[in-house]
Amino acid sequence: MELQVQPKLIIHGGAGSSLKGKGGVDIVRRSLFKVIEEVYALLLSGTPAIDAVVRGCQLLEDDPRFNAGTGSVLQSDGQIRMSAALMDGLRQRFSGVINVSRVQHPIDLAYTLQNSDDRVLSDYGAAELLRELQIPSYDAMTDLRLGEWMQERQENFGKSMAGVIAQLAEPTNAGRGTIGVVALDSQGRLAAGTSTGGKGFERIGRVSDSAMPAGNYATTHAAVSCTGIGEDIIDECLAARIVVRVTDGMTLPDAMQRSFTEANQHQRDLGAIALDSTGAIAWGKTSEVLLAAFHDGEQIGDTLEWTGLTNGL
Ligand code: GLY
Repeated sequence: MELQVQPKLIIHGGAGSSLKGKGGVDIVRRSLFKVIEEVYALLLSGTPAIDAVVRGCQLLEDDPRFNAGTGSVLQSDGQIRMSAALMDGLRQRFSGVINVSRVQHPIDLAYTLQNSDDRVLSDYGAAELLRELQIPSYDAMTDLRLGEWMQERQENFGKSMAGVIAQLAEPTNAGRGTIGVVALDSQGRLAAGTSTGGKGFERIGRVSDSAMPAGNYATTHAAVSCTGIGEDIIDECLAARIVVRVTDGMTLPDAMQRSFTEANQHQRDLGAIALDSTGAIAWGKTSEVLLAAFHDGEQIGDTLEWTGLTNGL
């Protein structure tokens, strides 16, 4: 098939503190590369960016290592409530669900809402939509997450958030989990998707950045998905800030550099992945690690052992 544009793809499985050893790094790398391979093949076969993003999010939501879908962290009351958003850059259209339970792929609800008059639904509305679509009820809880919550309960919830990368070869408290996918398709269309189980141990009703334009945003010029502490991402309005800077004429590397320098000065704990319509790939973090991988059209790379503020291709 003749490609008008070389597709590009970048995904993340969260940001946080050290992966504590190579075992963890290799396991996460394998998980991310598997998703990159499947989703990049879709882009090469002409799949629109928005559909490729949804598929990437589904695969990451199904991986219990990441804090989204299966393997989501538990909130303070022992329940899982997930949030997800999708933004089509071509139509500059955002949709999402906030604090939804008992669904395998929260991103599917965001996808359905792309063509709805009411495009962001919270808990009750999202549950109604699940019923309407006759999506089977799904238990996203894993033994590891339950064990983590039980331990915290014994310690009277002293931690402000859960550890969010599960089942590594070595124990880790790497945090701030979310998953995200950003794609540029063979027709030059951009899309971004983000999904999360939240911070873990949070108050009932706390709203994540992942289903806000602060955490997930795209125009025809650029697309961004964020990870990290939701409150920090909201305070920076990070995804929209980067995308608007590019839309207004700044290059993607400059927009990332400026936005992350500001975030660093404000002592935020966050990360982001980004693409622009020229095919530039970028990532940034103020956290210790960013669990991201990308396909630049020629090869797959990752950011797992990268130590910097912003970088790109
Ligand atoms: N960025 C995920 C959250 O804080 O909810």
